[in-house]
Amino acid sequence: MSEFSSKTFNAKLYSVSRPNYPKSLYSYLLKYHQLKNTQRSSSPSFLIDVGCGPGTATLQMCQHFHTNFNSMLGVDTSEVMIKQAQNNNTQYPNLSFKVAGATALSKVVPLAHSVDMITAAQCAHWFLPFGDFLKEVKKCLRPRTGTLAIWGYIDPRFVDYPELDTLLYELDRAKNQFGPFWQEPGRQILRDLLDAQKINPDIFYDIQELKYTIQDYRRDISNPANHKNSPFVLTKEMSLLDFRNYIYTWSAAHKRQQVLGDTDQIVANFFDQIFHKVPSLTMNSRVKVLWNTVYKLARAK
Ligand SMILES: C[S@@+](CC[C@H](N)C(=O)[O-])C[C@H]1O[C@@H](n2cnc3c(N)ncnc32)[C@H](O)[C@@H]1O
Repeated sequence: MSEFSSKTFNAKLYSVSRPNYPKSLYSYLLKYHQLKNTQRSSSPSFLIDVGCGPGTATLQMCQHFHTNFNSMLGVDTSEVMIKQAQNNNTQYPNLSFKVAGATALSKVVPLAHSVDMITAAQCAHWFLPFGDFLKEVKKCLRPRTGTLAIWGYIDPRFVDYPELDTLLYELDRAKNQFGPFWQEPGRQILRDLLDAQKINPDIFYDIQELKYTIQDYRRDISNPANHKNSPFVLTKEMSLLDFRNYIYTWSAAHKRQQVLGDTDQIVANFFDQIFHKVPSLTMNSRVKVLWNTVYKLARAK
């Protein structure tokens, strides 16, 4: 069972502490989708957000795509996440949420080949075997025009404090911190920015993929002439206190707490080391956080 399905997982904290995705990602996605959907603008259209969690991307898509889709559905295997998503949806009557799994998606779609867009934000690394998910997507999407969009993020870094990169790396990976408490192989798949989740060109076309990393960002700052354009640059300004809350949304932080009961200690040690290394920082200091990102887009054949 994924940590996100545990009854003790704090879906509310997840909901407020995780980053929202940038508008540029949604604009890019819509432009991609509309390239093959110009003539369909007046007929009913349907979007499914798989692995929707508390509705992080789903609610943002309602805001950005409200004139483009008549109805939206968020599905997730976690009941606590779906409950939180339902609570978070205070304003969109055409949005609903359901407990359902990515590899049985066609069971929640009333009609085969009737879905216009399927999104999977920060969850495709859990969909195993990935080929089964793709087959389900293919069954659901409209042929030729239906869009699949997958994206993910990982490895936060404090943009202006490269000297803290190692501490962040160790918090995530060290054996005596959260390293062994991530569920595999999902975590490694995400660390590799979804390299293993290949979109099958036999059943999809117009496949696009782009990664953007902290190295790209720092290179862009020091050398704007070589700027790597990506619609998915994920940054968030937050206090270190907010960042602390964000750490508590990691599945490995929840797992370590379940197994050893000392997540508070691990997190406290991490901040002690931060303050030791950069004494000017306090829990109230605001930092700019950037995550490595990847997105993949494709259309059903
Ligand atoms: C890291 S959360 C991402 C939530 C949200 N999409 C976001 O962008 O923040 C991953 C979610 O995927 C869900 N999940 C994991 N495996 C799944 C599967 N096979 N089918 C559907 N949802 C799944 C988990 O329950 C969890 O809510």
